[in-house]
Amino acid sequence: MSGEEKVVCVTGASGYIASWLVKLLLERGFSVKASVRDLDDPRKTEHLLSLEGAKERLHLLRADLFEEGAFDALVEGCEGVFHTASPIAFSANDPEAELIEPAVKGTLNVLRSCVKVPSIKRVVITSSTASIWYNGKPLNSDVVVDETWFSDPVYCEQNKLWYILSKTLAEKAAWQFAKENGIDLVTIHPGISIGPLLQPTLNVSSEIFMNFIKGRAQKFPFPAYTFIDVRDVAFAHIQAFEVPSASGRYCLVGNVLNSYETLKILKELYPASSLPEECEDEKALLPKHQVSKEKAKSLGVNFTPLEVSFRDTVESLKEKGFIDI
Ligand SMILES: NC(=O)c1ccc[n+]([C@@H]2O[C@H](COP(=O)([O-])OP(=O)(O)OC[C@H]3O[C@@H](n4cnc5c(N)ncnc54)[C@H](OP(=O)(O)O)[C@@H]3O)[C@@H](O)[C@H]2O)c1
Repeated sequence: MSGEEKVVCVTGASGYIASWLVKLLLERGFSVKASVRDLDDPRKTEHLLSLEGAKERLHLLRADLFEEGAFDALVEGCEGVFHTASPIAFSANDPEAELIEPAVKGTLNVLRSCVKVPSIKRVVITSSTASIWYNGKPLNSDVVVDETWFSDPVYCEQNKLWYILSKTLAEKAAWQFAKENGIDLVTIHPGISIGPLLQPTLNVSSEIFMNFIKGRAQKFPFPAYTFIDVRDVAFAHIQAFEVPSASGRYCLVGNVLNSYETLKILKELYPASSLPEECEDEKALLPKHQVSKEKAKSLGVNFTPLEVSFRDTVESLKEKGFIDI
C-alpha cells in the first residue's frame, strides 16, 4: 500500500520520535498534519519544515494537550492518527500536573477529537515499555517480557515512578475509551529510543545515552537499558497503521543491556575516546530480562543492529555539539 494522497496526523511532531515519524511519512508520500505547541519557536519547527516533501505535504498546526478540542482541526480529514505527544521527565515537583494530567487527559482529548471524524480508520498511540513491565515481578535472565505484561499503577505510585505511571494510566484510559467508542487502536511500546536526532534540542532518551559518554550513567532510574533505534520506532508506527491485521500492543525493544555492557560496546566502537573507565552505576552488572520481538517482527520490523544505533547516536550528538569524544 502506498501513502500517496493519504492524509494522516501526528501529535507532538517537534519531538524526537515524532520528527522521524513525520520524515518517514513524507518519504512514503503521505500528507501530514502535524501538531506543535509553539509555531513561533524555530527549534520546534525548522527541522520539520526542512524535511523532503514538507513544502508540499506538511501542515503544522498549534495544539496543546491540555486544551479540550485542540485536536479537532488536526484530525479533521485524516485516515490515520499518530498520537505521540506526552511529557517525559524522571522527576517532577507536581507529578499530577506535569506528567499524569497531560498524558491521560491529553490522550483522551485526542481520542475525543478522533471520534468526531468518520474518515479515521486507525489510531496509533506511542505508549512505552513503561506501561509494560513495572509491576514488581522479578526481572531476571529467565524472564521474557511480552505484550501480555501490564505495569501496575499502585506499584508505580508506591515507588514514585511518575512518568511510568503517566504512561500506564494513559494507555489504560486509551484502551477503555477505544473500546467504548469503537476506535481501532494500536499501541506501540518502545524501549529507550536512540539513533540520530533530527531536532536541534536534546530529548530525554538521547540524554540518557549521552550520560554514559559523560560518565553519569548512575542517574538512570531503571534496572536495565532496553534500547531500540528511533528509526525502527517510526517505521513500526507506520506499519501499525498500514498493516490491516495489526492490532493490540507491540513491544519494541532491540536489545536489553546492563550499564557495563553498554559502556563496553561504546568503548569498542570508540577505542581512542575518553569514555569513562568504569561504570559508576551500582546496577552495572545486574542480570537482565529479555523482551519478546515476535509481535514487532510480524509488523515487518527488522531491528537495526545495536552497533549501528550506537554509532549513529554518538555521531549525531557530536555533530549537534552535545558531546566531544
Ligand atoms: N524517547 C524514548 O526513549 C521513548 C521511549 C518510549 C516511549 N516514548 C514516548 O514517545 C513519545 C515521544 O517521546 P520523545 O522521546 O520523542 O520525546 P520528546 O522529544 O520530548 O517529544 C515529546 C513531545 O510531546 C510534546 N508535548 C509535551 N507536553 C505537551 C503538551 N502539554 N501539549 C502538547 N504537546 C506536548 C512535546 O512538545 P514540545 O516540543 O512543545 O515540548 C514534544 O513534541 C512520548 O509519548 C513518550 O512517552 C519515548
